Amino acid sequence: MTKTILITSGPTREYIDPVRFISNASSGKMGKAITETALKKGFNVIVVKGPSESKIKTSKKCRVINIVSAEEMFKAVKENLKFADIFIGVAAVADYKPVSFSKVKIKKNQNILNLKLKKNQDIIKYVAEHKGFKTVAGFALESDNVIKYAAKKLKEKKLDMIVANGPETISSDKSNPVLLFADGREKKLGRGTKQYVAKEIINEIIKIESYKTC
Ligand code: C5P
Repeated sequence: MTKTILITSGPTREYIDPVRFISNASSGKMGKAITETALKKGFNVIVVKGPSESKIKTSKKCRVINIVSAEEMFKAVKENLKFADIFIGVAAVADYKPVSFSKVKIKKNQNILNLKLKKNQDIIKYVAEHKGFKTVAGFALESDNVIKYAAKKLKEKKLDMIVANGPETISSDKSNPVLLFADGREKKLGRGTKQYVAKEIINEIIKIESYKTC
């Protein structure tokens, strides 16, 4: 039977008032490349996509759910988890959101404006805790100790695989990642386009899936 991959992609936006938000520079390019590769390899794909320039076409085999905030991303993931055999958390989910949202535009009449933030739900952690037989893969973007911190996230979030990247990856057409696996293996991919990286990631996912059926 055709397997379904649920993917999160792009940034999330955490609105402070009607026109201002907290976000990051994620372009959605990696999520798009993974979606297109997965479709070429015959998977069905559900993409929960944050706002970015990268467009993903909806088709019979590809459902695109557009969201804005991490809370909306989490809700869409929870609702669609039952349809998925594999989850890939590509999104650069905003870590924090404002404690309160101002319905009116905040006036700039203070020299110092304090913004109180609270942590967003860790979506991939929730997925891994409820994964059953699903394969769960994530990304880690680190500015220092890339492998060490990615390995820590792999373990803490109970993932099957994590893609460790440096900060030059964000918005770029290329990346130079190392794949880390739950069994302790490491695979350096070398620098290449996000399409090349996506192919390598999907091939590794296919391998993990095939071990399961052995
Ligand atoms: O932000 P962090 O480095 O922890 O991201 C690592 C992985 O966790 C990524 O795959 C990202 O999509 C996922 N994540 C998530 N929900 C969050 C934060 C991160 O699913 N709130």
